Amino acid sequence: MKNQTKHKYNRIANVYNFFTGNKDSKKMSSWTKRVLESIEGSKVLEVGVGTGKVAIFYPENLEVIGIDFSLNMLNKAKKQVKDKKNITLLEMDAQAMTFEDNSFDTVVASCVFCAVPDPIKGIKEMRRVCKPGGKIIMVEHVRSNKRLKGKIMDWLNVITVWVLGEYINRDTENNVILAGFKREDVKSDFIFSDIVKFIEIRNNK
Ligand SMILES: C[S@@+](CC[C@H](N)C(=O)[O-])C[C@H]1O[C@@H](n2cnc3c(N)ncnc32)[C@H](O)[C@@H]1O
Repeated sequence: MKNQTKHKYNRIANVYNFFTGNKDSKKMSSWTKRVLESIEGSKVLEVGVGTGKVAIFYPENLEVIGIDFSLNMLNKAKKQVKDKKNITLLEMDAQAMTFEDNSFDTVVASCVFCAVPDPIKGIKEMRRVCKPGGKIIMVEHVRSNKRLKGKIMDWLNVITVWVLGEYINRDTENNVILAGFKREDVKSDFIFSDIVKFIEIRNNK
């Protein structure tokens, strides 16, 4: 499954920005603004950086590493941030990162944990590489709790998994708890209907 997802993103890298809107990535979305405002400290990791839709907006005072396991997505991101000396992009699997423990003040992931093949493993890795007391910020699709909408998402999920390797019906906040975070350290609110969540986690280890 891991390689299937990676290959799917490699295949769609050329059309990803077109189909996800904001084609030239110059306009900052409101949730990207919120991500940037929520960052703490100066050492930042972005997991699943994709084509660099968030990365392009990191201010110069942050030292940012972005990782992705799709080389084609990463190459798009490299073009986006080619003038930004404070951003390093690396090909790496979020489920097995090569960083030392406690390396980053803030870890960011947007629309990634619907795609990571083993999301709990990936979230555990974010926990490991984030410093004690640091912050993890996630913006994620989640399954609607409404009966019919949830069912429709389950049906559509078959297509999104097939095309993109993306599970649109995951309960990512529960995966955060299963990965070892305490409920009281997790804050979340919906930013689009009841299907896209902004999740902030205090990394109390
Ligand atoms: C839906 S895209 C989101 C990209 C970007 N964060 C954004 O907001 O536009 C998901 C990205 O996560 C990456 N990804 C999925 N699983 C991954 C993993 N295990 N390790 C690294 N990257 C992964 C995919 O290759 C893809 O680029």
